[in-house]
Amino acid sequence: MSSAGEAAAAFRSVHGRAPGGVWSAPGRVNLIGEHTDYNDGFVLPFALPHRLAAAASRRDDQVLTVSTLGSDGKLQHSGPLEIGSLRPGGIEGWAAYPAGVAWVLRDEGFDRGADVVIAGDVPSGAGLSSSHALECAVSLALLGLAGIELDGNAPGTPSLQEVARWVQRSENDFVGAPTGLLDQTASLCCTESNVLFLDVRSGVYEHVPFDAAASGVAVLIIDTRTKHSHADGGYGERRRGTERAAELLDVKALRDVTLETLADALTRLPADLGPLVRHVVTENQRVLEVVELLRAGRLAEIGPLLYASHESMRDDYRISTAELDLAVESALTAGALGARMTGGGFGGSAIALVRESEVDSVSTTVDTAFEKAGYRRPRMFTAVPSRGAGKDAGGNTGGDTV
Ligand code: GLA
Repeated sequence: MSSAGEAAAAFRSVHGRAPGGVWSAPGRVNLIGEHTDYNDGFVLPFALPHRLAAAASRRDDQVLTVSTLGSDGKLQHSGPLEIGSLRPGGIEGWAAYPAGVAWVLRDEGFDRGADVVIAGDVPSGAGLSSSHALECAVSLALLGLAGIELDGNAPGTPSLQEVARWVQRSENDFVGAPTGLLDQTASLCCTESNVLFLDVRSGVYEHVPFDAAASGVAVLIIDTRTKHSHADGGYGERRRGTERAAELLDVKALRDVTLETLADALTRLPADLGPLVRHVVTENQRVLEVVELLRAGRLAEIGPLLYASHESMRDDYRISTAELDLAVESALTAGALGARMTGGGFGGSAIALVRESEVDSVSTTVDTAFEKAGYRRPRMFTAVPSRGAGKDAGGNTGGDTV
């Protein structure tokens, strides 16, 4: 069953009626451009086929109830939560994400209550943005119940990027994770068959065709099933390091340091900040080079840039782990054209660009390497760029339309 179908069925089992509508949003994988988003740089993600769906109905009060269907088939419930009483830090665990969205939307003038039930198949804790998929699906649901569909051009309709910034605010200020704009924008703005080339500074983005199969290759996702948490110290520490470096260099953001000015910049920075700056500057350049290759129809040649990105994150940004390094190195040994850790780091997933005919042999080699190292068995699957967030069914009446 689709995520939307599952969410609608779960809504019926919780509330004994059909939901008013179902909205869903995908997880994402970042092809390249890591830790560049909060430095005003470039990113290149695509949406996964995996989605989280929010089945929802309007309430007449200002109360939010949220239930989520786990992969074990069990429902967890949160609420009733008084939307007017929501406070940052006041809610723990998964429920903080939907509550954070309701908290931000309340400030934007959308404070009607809702019953929301979430279901879907984005692996959680895998660095594939399940939390953003959840936040984006709930944002669209709460806006949709208020009669606002983002694909419409009605006057006053917020843009997808405005909603991405709201989601970022809920994540930064309510949940307390100091993340950038990559994941929400990917979940909301990606389209099928394309990667999203986003210039975070200007907000301008372009859909760049990414047809791996036409080049005889595939993107293999390797979820190491090891912990990553951006609310923990490592991510915030790196972010503060780059902000401090920008201050010392007297630029607005590290986006303003170029390959040409990098050597000089490095002489003006303390030893601990130099490598962070080098990563961001070279990573921005790698995104531009990958985009050039994709535009030139040379998709199968991006492999070395993917691996250079991995080395930069491992050695300069220092956010890789033994499991991620093993995923990358074993995939390369087995013939992958390139591989890198993806996402925030400290665990989570790697990606490998693999010839289609070698997907099985590369997967087996990675599996064996993990087994030998005594690591948990990784979860692996290939993925193609899929559609972004949107409405799956139902309307804005809050009635039984699904
Ligand atoms: C996480 C954050 C993003 C981005 C990446 C690293 O996924 O949520 O904003 O910073 O890490 O590229």
